Amino acid sequence: MSEYKLFSEFKLGDITLKNRVVMAPMTRSRAVEKNTANALIAEYYEQRSEAGLIITEGTSPSPNGLGYPRIPGLFNQQQVDGWRLVTEKVHEAGSKIFVQLMHTGAVGNVENLPEGAKVLSPSGLLVSGQMYVDGKGMQDHTVPSAMTTTEVKSTIQEYINAAKLAIEAGFDGVEIHGANGYLVEQFINPKANQRTDEYGGSIENRSRFAIEIAQGMADAIGKGKVGIRLSPFGVFNDMGEFEGIDEQFKYIAEAMNKIGIAYIHIVDHSHMGAPEVPQRVKDIIRNNFKGAYILSGGYNKERAENDLQANKGELVAFGVPFIANPDLVTRMKKDIALANPDQNTFYTPGVQGYTDYPKAD
Ligand SMILES: Cc1cc2nc3c(=O)[nH]c(=O)nc-3n(C[C@H](O)[C@H](O)[C@H](O)COP(=O)(O)O)c2cc1C
Repeated sequence: MSEYKLFSEFKLGDITLKNRVVMAPMTRSRAVEKNTANALIAEYYEQRSEAGLIITEGTSPSPNGLGYPRIPGLFNQQQVDGWRLVTEKVHEAGSKIFVQLMHTGAVGNVENLPEGAKVLSPSGLLVSGQMYVDGKGMQDHTVPSAMTTTEVKSTIQEYINAAKLAIEAGFDGVEIHGANGYLVEQFINPKANQRTDEYGGSIENRSRFAIEIAQGMADAIGKGKVGIRLSPFGVFNDMGEFEGIDEQFKYIAEAMNKIGIAYIHIVDHSHMGAPEVPQRVKDIIRNNFKGAYILSGGYNKERAENDLQANKGELVAFGVPFIANPDLVTRMKKDIALANPDQNTFYTPGVQGYTDYPKAD
C-alpha cells in the first residue's frame, strides 16, 4: 500500500504529516462543562490519531461565538488546560492537530451563550431555521445585534488571542472557519453583510474581516501555523451564490497567498444534497494560492487517491467516515469494510456514539 500517495508524508507549513489523511472538523457537542475540552474529548481524538492531521471541531474564540450547545471555546485559561489534555494525547500517538476557530455569529440562541454574552453579526439579520437548546429542544435563532465597527475590531482581536492560546495549549496550528455560514462567511457573503463601513460593500471590504484575522494570526503565531476553510457556493445558514462570487474568492485566495498561510481547505457538501461547487471556482482558488489545498466532501480511499494523483489537492479530509471508524487509515490501507455511524448520537453528550466505536482488529 505504500505506493499510495494518500499514505505518504507531506510537509504542511512548519510540520511534517505522516500521511495525507486529514480528519475533518466535526462538532460533537461533548464539552459539557463550561465549554471546555475534557478527558473524554482527548480520548476521542487520541483514538483517531492515525490521521496525518486532525482538525478539531469548531471552537469559539469568544463567549459570543458559542451559539450551539456544549461546543468548546478557547478564550480562557481553563479552556487552554482542557485542550492541553487533547494535544498531549494526540502528539503522544504520533499525529498533529489544528484547532478550528469557529465563531457562530448570527447562528445561535442566546440561551446557549454564557451570562453576558450576545449573539452578534455583521448586519443583525435573523438566520432562518432553528437551534437546539438543552432542556428546551429546537428554538428560533436569536435576532443578532449588528456589530459596531469597534466590535468588529475587538472580535478580530479575539480570534488572534485564541490563536495565541492555541499555541499555549499545544496545538500545531489553527484553522479559521470561514465556511458554512458562520461569522467569517457572514462577512464575506452580501446576503448577510449589508454594512456601510470598511467591513461591508465592496469585495475588498467584505473580505477584510477574514484577511485581518489571518494576517493578525500569522503575525502572532507564524504564517505556517494558519489555515482557512472556505465554502464557496455553500447554502447552509442562509448563504448562497451572489454576484461577483468568483472575483470574491479569487481576491481572498490571492490575499491568503500574500500572507503565506499554510493551507486553504475547501468544503463541498454536494454529496449531502448541497449545490455542486463549480470546478471553475475550485480552480480559481487553487491557481491563486501556492500553499496546500485540502479537499473534502464525500471521499473514500479510491476517490482520494485519484484526486491526489490528478493534482487537485495535496491533502484529503474525511469527516463522517472517522466517526465510526477510529482506525480509518488502517481500514483504508487494508481494505477493511467501514462501519456506519449512528446519526442520533452525533451531538449528544457522553461516550455513546463517540468513543465506543471499536477498531477493526
Ligand atoms: C457531525 C458533523 C459535525 C460537523 N461539524 C463541522 C464543524 O464544526 N466545522 C466544519 O467546518 N465542518 C463541520 N462538518 C462538516 C465536515 O467537516 C465535512 O465537511 C462533511 O462531513 C463532509 O465530509 P465527509 O463526506 O467526509 O463527511 C461537520 C459534519 C458532521 C457530519
